[in-house]
Amino acid sequence: MIETTAAIPKDDIQRPESEPLVTHTYVSGQEDREHFPWYNPHGWSLRTKLLVGIFSIAAIIGIIVGAVEGSKTRRYPDYSPLQYRLVDRYKGEAFFERFGYFSDEDPTSGFVRYVNQSTALDQNLTYATTDSAILRVDSTTLNTSDGRNSVRIESKATYDDGLFIFDILHTPYGCGTWPALWLTDGSNWPFNGEIDVLEATNNGTNGNAVTLHTTPGCSMDVRRKETGDSIYTTCDNSTNGNAGCGVRGPSLTYGEEMNANGGGIYALEIRPAGIRAWFFPRDSIPADLTEESITPDPSAWGTALADFPNTSCDIPSHFKNQSIIANIDLCGDYGGRDDVYTDQFACPGNCTDFVARNPKNFTQAYWEFGGFWVYSSV
Ligand SMILES: *[C@@H]1O[C@H](CO)[C@@H](O)[C@H](O)[C@H]1NC(C)=O
Ligand SMILES: *[C@@H]1O[C@H](CO)[C@@H](O)[C@H](O)[C@H]1NC(C)=O
Ligand SMILES: *[C@@H]1O[C@H](CO)[C@@H](O)[C@H](O)[C@H]1NC(C)=O
Ligand SMILES: *[C@@H]1O[C@H](CO)[C@@H](O)[C@H](O)[C@H]1NC(C)=O
Ligand SMILES: *[C@@H]1O[C@H](CO)[C@@H](O)[C@H](O)[C@H]1NC(C)=O
Ligand SMILES: *[C@@H]1O[C@H](CO)[C@@H](O)[C@H](O)[C@H]1NC(C)=O
Ligand SMILES: *[C@@H]1O[C@H](CO)[C@@H](O)[C@H](O)[C@H]1NC(C)=O
Ligand SMILES: *[C@@H]1O[C@H](CO)[C@@H](O)[C@H](O)[C@H]1NC(C)=O
Ligand SMILES: *[C@@H]1O[C@H](CO)[C@@H](O)[C@H](O)[C@H]1NC(C)=O
Repeated sequence: MIETTAAIPKDDIQRPESEPLVTHTYVSGQEDREHFPWYNPHGWSLRTKLLVGIFSIAAIIGIIVGAVEGSKTRRYPDYSPLQYRLVDRYKGEAFFERFGYFSDEDPTSGFVRYVNQSTALDQNLTYATTDSAILRVDSTTLNTSDGRNSVRIESKATYDDGLFIFDILHTPYGCGTWPALWLTDGSNWPFNGEIDVLEATNNGTNGNAVTLHTTPGCSMDVRRKETGDSIYTTCDNSTNGNAGCGVRGPSLTYGEEMNANGGGIYALEIRPAGIRAWFFPRDSIPADLTEESITPDPSAWGTALADFPNTSCDIPSHFKNQSIIANIDLCGDYGGRDDVYTDQFACPGNCTDFVARNPKNFTQAYWEFGGFWVYSSV
C-alpha cells in the first residue's frame, strides 16, 4: 500500500474543477520553474512574488524604524566641561541672611507649622556659626494640636542653571519626617520645574532619591550614565501621582548611615545638555570640592549618581528661576501616606498622633550644612 501510494507521480493527481485560476497559473508555471534556479524570480509563482514583496517592504520598514529607535537610544548629549566661576556663597554666621522663611500653610498637607524668622530664632530652630548652619524640628513641645513647628527656607536668589555644591554634615531622619533639599520656583510650579537633590522620609534608610518634576514632555527613557537606580522615567507631574522621575542611591547616600560617615557633598549641575547629581561621602571628596580656590570640574568626578540628559526633555525650557529650598516636613502627602509611614517603615500608629505627642523622637530631625556654593558658567 505504502509503496503504491508513494509511486504515484505528483503531476498525475487530479485537481478539482473548482480550483481558482490563480492556482492554475501556479501549476502552469511549474515547467518554467524547473528551468530556473530557486533564487531567480522568473521561476517564482505569483504568490511567492507577492510574499517576497511583502516581506521585503516589512524588512525595509523594520530597518528604518530600528535605525531611528536605535539612534534615539544611542543619542547622548555633549557634556564637555564648562568654565565655572563662583557667584554665590551661603556659609558661616550669615548663612540664613540670603534666605526667606516660608511660613504659609504647607502646600503638601503636612502636620507642620513652618515658622517665620523671628520665631525660628526665638525657638532656636535655625542656628548658624562660622562652621555650620542648623535647621530643625521642634523637639520640646509636648502636645501640638495643629502641627509641630519646623522650618522651610528659600533662597532669595534664583537660578536658571549652574553648578551647586551642597556640603552636608547631618541629614534629618526619624518616623514622621519628610525632609528635602531641593530647588523649585514655588510661584510657578510645575511650569519652571522642581529638582529634588535630597529627599527621604521616615527612617531614611532607603537611600536618597534625586528626582525631577515637570510639566508634560520630559522623558528620561533614554541613554543615561549614572550609578543610581532609575525609579520612573516620566517626569510629568500628572503621571504616577506626581512621583516624578527619580534615581535612587544606595543607603549611605542618606540618613543615619550618611551622618555616621560625617555626611558628605552633593553636587548638582544644571546646564542645557542635562542635569546631573553626584554624591561624595566625607572620606572621598575630590580636592576641587574642598578647596575654594580650585574651580570645580565635574568632568573629573566620574559617573554621576543621577543623570537627566536633555535627549527627550528640553531642560532649559522645563527648568527656570529655581530657588534653593531646605525644609523638614512632617507626615504630609508623602511621608505620612499609609503605604510609606506604616507599610514601608513600620512606624507606630498614626503619623499625626505620633508627631503631636513624641517631641523626643525628633532630636535627629535636623539638617546641618557646612555651606552651599553656586557657580555659573562663564
Ligand atoms: C512671626 O510669627 C509669630 C507667631 O505666629 C507672630 O506672632 C509674629 O508676628 C510673626 N512675625 C512676623 C515678623 O511676621
Ligand atoms: C541653639 O542651638 C545650638 C545648636 O544646637 C546650641 O549650640 C545653642 O546652645 C542653642 N542655643 C540656645 C539659646 O539654646
Ligand atoms: C493633646 O492635645 C489634644 C488636642 O488639643 C487633646 O485632645 C489631648 O487631650 C492632649 N493630650 C495630652 C496628653 O495632653
Ligand atoms: C521667580 O521666582 C520667584 C520666587 O518663586 C517669583 O516670585 C518670581 O515671580 C519668579 N520670576 C519669574 C520671572 O518667573
Ligand atoms: C500637575 O500640574 C498641573 C499644572 O500643569 C496641575 O494642574 C495639576 O494639579 C498637577 N498635578 C499634580 C498631581 O500635582
Ligand atoms: C536640548 O533639547 C532641545 C529639544 O529637544 C534641543 O532643541 C536642544 O538643541 C538641546 N540642547 C542641547 C544642548 O542638547
Ligand atoms: C523605623 O524606625 C522605628 C523606630 O526606631 C522602628 O520601630 C521601625 O522598625 C523602623 N523601620 C524599619 C523598616 O526599620
Ligand atoms: C490620626 O488620628 C487623628 C486623631 O487622633 C485623626 O484626626 C487622623 O485622621 C488620623 N490620621 C490617619 C491617617 O489615620
Ligand atoms: C521614640 O523614642 C523612644 C525613646 O528614645 C524610642 O524607644 C522609640 O523607639 C522611638 N520611637 C520611634 C518610632 O522613633
